[in-house]
Amino acid sequence: VAVIPFYGVEQPGLFAIERQAMDRAGLVLAALDRILPATGTVLDVGAGDGFTASRLQSVTRRLVCLEPAMSQSAATSLTWIRGAAPDVALQTNSVVAAYSTWAYFFPEFLDISAGLNDLNRVVKPGGPIVLVDNAGDDAFCAMAPQPIATAPSTWEALGFEVEVIETAFEFDSLADAERLLTFFFGDRAEVALTVEFKVGVAVRFAD
Ligand SMILES: C[S@@+](CC[C@H](N)C(=O)[O-])C[C@H]1O[C@@H](n2cnc3c(N)ncnc32)[C@H](O)[C@@H]1O
Repeated sequence: VAVIPFYGVEQPGLFAIERQAMDRAGLVLAALDRILPATGTVLDVGAGDGFTASRLQSVTRRLVCLEPAMSQSAATSLTWIRGAAPDVALQTNSVVAAYSTWAYFFPEFLDISAGLNDLNRVVKPGGPIVLVDNAGDDAFCAMAPQPIATAPSTWEALGFEVEVIETAFEFDSLADAERLLTFFFGDRAEVALTVEFKVGVAVRFAD
């Protein structure tokens, strides 16, 4: 199992800056909310502190979060399973949908086929499997010394349809922007209050 280290456990304050700033307009959340069934149990793989899951949960849509690095700031309104892809410790056909945002499903760098197979197993036939990652070709990814995005063509080759959402990092202050961007990119960081950011939302349906 490839567990990718999560800086948010050691530095929850910095992760909070990231989560508040990235896609501040909530365009990715809105897309997930539209794609996921409004009723039933939905799985979030690599949920972090539950930022996304807690915003998608409702009276009728319940969220189960799989996460290897449980954070002290994990949202208590959610159901948590300590674990990691590719092995999802849930029964076959037990959820109506599954998604993952910026966690584990990085097909440019990892063989995600086992993880995809297990999502296909736990999601009821016809339910959406939604994977979210940087789409690249933007000011944010341009700061990285090496590629940090999944090209839409890579998702398409895996049988996904991709929507590229044009959003932005919008920071509260230049100090916050500097803290996060230099943490990520060192002296390649181009500090600004607003940084262009494109996100791929890849969808395929369980069979
Ligand atoms: C960049 S964070 C994203 C967190 C959250 N999905 C979000 O959007 O805020 C990556 C997350 O993936 C988790 N992770 C690392 N390896 C994993 C694995 N093999 N399976 C599931 N999650 C994993 C990390 O612990 C971390 O919480």
